[in-house]
Amino acid sequence: MAGYTDQAFRQVCKHFGAEVMLSEMVSADGIIRDSAKTIKYISFDDSERPYGVQIFGNDPLVMAKAAEFLIPFKPDFVDINMGCPVKKVIRRGSGSALMQTPLLAERIVAEVKNALSGSLPLSVKFRSGWDSQTQNYVEFGLRMETAGADFLCLHPRTTKQMFSGKSNWEHIAELKSKLSIPLIGNGDILQPEDAKLMLQQTNCDGLMIGRGALGKPWIFSQCRSYISRGSYEPITKQKLYDTIVFHIGQALKFKREIVVVKEMRSQLCFYTKGALGGAELRNKINHAESATELINLVKQLLIS
Ligand SMILES: Cc1cc2nc3c(=O)[nH]c(=O)nc-3n(C[C@H](O)[C@H](O)[C@H](O)COP(=O)(O)O)c2cc1C
Repeated sequence: MAGYTDQAFRQVCKHFGAEVMLSEMVSADGIIRDSAKTIKYISFDDSERPYGVQIFGNDPLVMAKAAEFLIPFKPDFVDINMGCPVKKVIRRGSGSALMQTPLLAERIVAEVKNALSGSLPLSVKFRSGWDSQTQNYVEFGLRMETAGADFLCLHPRTTKQMFSGKSNWEHIAELKSKLSIPLIGNGDILQPEDAKLMLQQTNCDGLMIGRGALGKPWIFSQCRSYISRGSYEPITKQKLYDTIVFHIGQALKFKREIVVVKEMRSQLCFYTKGALGGAELRNKINHAESATELINLVKQLLIS
């Protein structure tokens, strides 16, 4: 997730049992034009494996070049974003706008596959379609499979829906029944019970969790526990506090303190959601100037 799943957050998620993780989405144009600036979005540690780099763009040759650039970094796979509904992405015909131009989307997959020349698996993430009138996820998914994708991920909302309403898991079940390659289901897994339900209702091959991990990175181990044993351990205030300290510590390994203090604001909003006194704390967090100050504020809220 752009703006959230940086290396520090991925380390936290891995600690809590996330099996496969991805980079934030990276512009293929950016990789080609200013690779030095883009590398920070791609960098990862071996401990984060299996790890995929997600690219977006709409020019097949630029996408292919970007994929080729990624090979020496040795990620475990490359993913193409055809699901982002954000204006500045779709305006340029990238992200979920590609669902309106399936022939171009197919060419992108074919060119990227060719550029990877069998060295890395390729996946594609997309939505149900552009709007309620044009839900072409089955035809689109089959096209992606034919063009060479090794596995797919469906977030069953339309572009117009953005993140509103509910994702339609029936679309995942339908597409799964028609594909020969694996399908990852995504959308509205906010608690472990949802994970089990999606598996049961769709028969998909894997689950992707986005927003459900914000402020709750332990959701991955809770899901696995619930799926295999039917129960999971609730989180305690102490564990929440320890996780926040761990997250800040990880962030300081990769970014300057001034950047960490700024970027942790939104992460801490998620971590402290629902906590008594959380609103007042968030106000203070927005004015904090050091990581120690952040940690002390959180300690006041959760421990003392
Ligand atoms: C802030 C934010 C950033 C996101 N960034 C990305 C991204 O970079 N790449 C991507 O494939 N999806 C991105 N998504 C979409 C999520 O990965 C996911 O498909 C969507 O939120 C539905 O799943 P969820 O209900 O588990 O969050 C983003 C979502 C949010 C809310």
